Amino acid sequence: MSRLDLIIFGATGYTGKNAVKELCRVLKNNAFTGLTWGVAGRSESKLDDVLREVSKKTEEDLSSIRKVIADVSDEKSLTDMCLQCKVIVNCCGPYRNYGEPVVKAAIEAKTHYVDVSGEPEFMETMQLFYNERAREAGVYIISACGFDSIPNDMGVIFLQQNFGGTVNSVESYLTVMAPKNPSGGYINYGTWETLVYSLANYSMLSKLRKKLYPTPMPDFKPKLTRRRLLHSHNSAYTLPFPGSDGAVVYRTQRSLYEHESQRPAQFKAYVTFPSLFMGLKTLFGAIVLYLMSMLSCTRALLLRYPRLFSGGTVSRTEPSETDVQETRFYFELLAEGWAGDDADLTSPPNKTMTAKVTGSNPGYGATVVALLFSAIMILREQDKMPKCGVLTPGYAYRKTSIIQHLNENNLKFEIVSRDSEKQNEK
Ligand SMILES: NC(=O)c1ccc[n+]([C@@H]2O[C@H](COP(=O)([O-])OP(=O)(O)OC[C@H]3O[C@@H](n4cnc5c(N)ncnc54)[C@H](OP(=O)(O)O)[C@@H]3O)[C@@H](O)[C@H]2O)c1
Repeated sequence: MSRLDLIIFGATGYTGKNAVKELCRVLKNNAFTGLTWGVAGRSESKLDDVLREVSKKTEEDLSSIRKVIADVSDEKSLTDMCLQCKVIVNCCGPYRNYGEPVVKAAIEAKTHYVDVSGEPEFMETMQLFYNERAREAGVYIISACGFDSIPNDMGVIFLQQNFGGTVNSVESYLTVMAPKNPSGGYINYGTWETLVYSLANYSMLSKLRKKLYPTPMPDFKPKLTRRRLLHSHNSAYTLPFPGSDGAVVYRTQRSLYEHESQRPAQFKAYVTFPSLFMGLKTLFGAIVLYLMSMLSCTRALLLRYPRLFSGGTVSRTEPSETDVQETRFYFELLAEGWAGDDADLTSPPNKTMTAKVTGSNPGYGATVVALLFSAIMILREQDKMPKCGVLTPGYAYRKTSIIQHLNENNLKFEIVSRDSEKQNEK
């Protein structure tokens, strides 16, 4: 049996189903019509339901799409699935529970792998234990190809490529504009479950990092300013962004430093709130969520009553289509550094630049667009990618045309100001 270009594993989940639907749309573009694909999951009848539902929505005939039965608890089924494609697009999460056997099977079958994990512990464990094996097998294992962390990780790369000099630091401010009164929540239960388990295991990260990176990177100066926990930015209030973006950007920048001798950019991510009250309310909610995730009895409550503990944003059943579609976001990325190739990097930074990354439906629209183009880049532009292994998106895709494709598909990267250049022109 010939290998398909890609298989979406976990196609019966909310993210997986959205990836199938988005793939049908992407394939209407002439550039990708020849791409072959299939779906995989542990229940044939559920896979049938997904293909029927997507077929109805997209008016595509999906009757000949290959269905593969694979269960995370059955190693052989995973290897058989991976042997049937060139890239496995893994939408089965939480990845800390279901990811490792799929990565292992992909390496065994010499199949490339992408996912939308936002779990640093999973990603860094895969890098620690499977990087060499992936390299030897000649495969790419690339996590964080969704909303976590393509906008920030590729956003920093985008700034570095457009800066016209050396970037010392980037601060990222995420603003999410969600419907005021969501009818059914705009975050799926799978994401909530993943968040709760990630918080519960947060303390394991520092031990893991000592093994992954036994030697620290040199101190690059000037150090990025440490902001207060709750600080104001423009007319908004901000908190540190608790997601995985900081960890992913760090790994990308560290790879650039170690393999390309490029000065790494320091990075810090924040999330904005329209009022001090909203910022304080979120901070309080985050502390309660963190503490409750620690104990198994309170963790069970979080998992049992997601809507209650998420303030109505998480839905146990699928989120409402209108709510997710009406959720918009933008990242404002502020870079600071030095102009020109031969700048004195011990002098104070003399140049700033701002980029914006905008889109809608962050969890299941922008995410699946980024995920699919991550897979497509491996299929089409491998010659522009670095050596195989367990890599981050920023390091893997920095020389490909992924940003151009994302721009054409509703996830827009743009430079919005080049401040010091203006000053120089005056
Ligand atoms: N980083 C981002 O930006 C981003 C965005 C969205 C989602 N995500 C992540 O994506 C993951 C999935 O989220 P979701 O909301 O789509 O969750 P979901 O709807 O619960 O889907 C989970 C999928 O995993 C499958 N699965 C579970 N156990 C399995 C097993 N033993 N064998 C085979 N398949 C199994 C489920 O199959 P069944 O249907 O048979 O149960 C389902 O297809 C989560 O980790 C979430 O955090 C990340």
